[in-house]
Amino acid sequence: MVADRQNIRPWRIMIYMVILIVVFLTIYFISGQVSPSFSIQLSFDRLKLKISGNNSSQSSAQSITHLWSLRLADGAHFRLAKAIPCRTIEYTGGPKKDPVNSCADQSTNEFSVENTIKAQQWLFDHQHPSNCSNKRFAIIRKYAWSGFGSTVHQVVWAFGVALAEDRIAVYETPGHWLYGDCVSSNPDCLFLPITNCSVPRNVDGKQTSYINADFGHWSKPVHPSVFQNRTFNWYRAQLLFYLMRFKPETLSHVQKMVTQYLQVPSIDILRPFIAIYVRRSDKITGREMKQAYPLKQYFDLFEADLQRANITNIYLNSEDNQVFDEFIEINKQKQGRYKLLSIKAQKNIVFASLTRMSQRDRGKIVLEFLTDLFIEANADLHAGTLTSNWCRLVDEMRLTLGKTLPYYTPEDRYLLDM
Ligand SMILES: *[C@@H]1O[C@H](CO)[C@@H](O)[C@H](O)[C@H]1NC(C)=O
Ligand SMILES: *[C@@H]1O[C@H](CO)[C@@H](O)[C@H](O)[C@H]1NC(C)=O
Ligand SMILES: *[C@@H]1O[C@H](CO)[C@@H](O)[C@H](O)[C@H]1NC(C)=O
Ligand SMILES: *[C@@H]1O[C@H](CO)[C@@H](O)[C@H](O)[C@H]1NC(C)=O
Ligand SMILES: *[C@@H]1O[C@H](CO)[C@@H](O)[C@H](O)[C@H]1NC(C)=O
Ligand SMILES: *[C@@H]1O[C@H](CO)[C@@H](O)[C@H](O)[C@H]1NC(C)=O
Repeated sequence: MVADRQNIRPWRIMIYMVILIVVFLTIYFISGQVSPSFSIQLSFDRLKLKISGNNSSQSSAQSITHLWSLRLADGAHFRLAKAIPCRTIEYTGGPKKDPVNSCADQSTNEFSVENTIKAQQWLFDHQHPSNCSNKRFAIIRKYAWSGFGSTVHQVVWAFGVALAEDRIAVYETPGHWLYGDCVSSNPDCLFLPITNCSVPRNVDGKQTSYINADFGHWSKPVHPSVFQNRTFNWYRAQLLFYLMRFKPETLSHVQKMVTQYLQVPSIDILRPFIAIYVRRSDKITGREMKQAYPLKQYFDLFEADLQRANITNIYLNSEDNQVFDEFIEINKQKQGRYKLLSIKAQKNIVFASLTRMSQRDRGKIVLEFLTDLFIEANADLHAGTLTSNWCRLVDEMRLTLGKTLPYYTPEDRYLLDM
């Protein structure tokens, strides 16, 4: 059975990606039959069994390779990470400074694969009760009219408010979300449903309330009691990770683009690699970023570490095409040491141009963003600028996957925007 699956042609693998997690679990738990009707919940039930076991829990968490179709930090990643000098990064902008030590071991590092699995299971269970009646709900609506990373972070905030009030979060339908190119026009267009409860019809402000996702800021984050001792950075990243579970259609599109642009059947073949997102254009003209950083400045930050970890594959993305010319120039000086990986996404797309597009064209662009995110999530090292919501989103994603190597940034600022 298992061998059969490995021989399936790439497009079929894409279709089956949703149940990949089940396949992997099956390899470990059942040594035979795989039923396609297995659900995500079942895989979580099995995870529960494993995790609640005794001291082998750490290694069992390690034996789970993917969560929500994204590859968790694995042995190859940790071996490579060991070659890189330890650093402690201090994230600012939250209720207090949240340090992340890149060499913390699994017992002291809160961004461990095991903690992520537990948190994701808790969030899934909270949002998927066996009986939805008599539950409290929050209907998320009125999405921020802003860049993709920014609007997603606003939804994450709204989800946080719902959880703080012990409510199940649902999305209003239709949601009129700028990036929702489907009937429901909310984040369910791209991601797995936030809940399996339906949207309550009667909104009394008590049992069911509205949360507008267009203004909120985490002035005083309240975590559910199970997460009371977690840092804000960790908690918010977990909420984001839950909300951004790629749905099968999204995933298959992303996989198709990876195959087409990177010319490999699986992103794994390109590992290890570093992902660099160079954010410029409207961030500079809008003065959110002080300056545009030359690509060379990014290289100066991470090149020594690339050599330590034997990394020569470089995934580069930017809305500014100029960056690719800079890469060619740098690589010439290095005798072509590096191999460039890139997707031919439409360049020069900024928020202003997105708003002028049709819903359908925006839908396509968003799939390009998510392709970028998928590739970046698979990288071992990351570089960018955390004044950008997009880079912060990538940063949260890689942390939840268990990758705590320092994020290389010429800004030298590790921001948690409230
Ligand atoms: C704990 O693990 C040991 C071996 O590592 C095993 O012998 C024992 O039965 C386990 N206990 C429980 C409660 O699972
Ligand atoms: C688990 O491991 C720790 C040390 O790593 C040990 O102190 C503890 O007794 C172990 N617990 C069980 C149930 O084996
Ligand atoms: C929601 O999904 C969970 C997990 O699949 C399931 O256990 C639960 O019964 C479902 N609830 C409803 C109301 O359908
Ligand atoms: C859900 O709970 C309500 C009220 O407690 C009950 O009337 C209903 O039968 C339950 N539904 C299911 C499917 O158990
Ligand atoms: C949080 O920390 C306090 C104090 O160390 C401890 O008593 C409590 O059990 C912890 N809560 C959780 C959910 O781990
Ligand atoms: C990098 O390559 C060298 C030479 O092939 C090898 O000795 C070293 O262990 C490698 N380092 C890592 C982190 O893979």
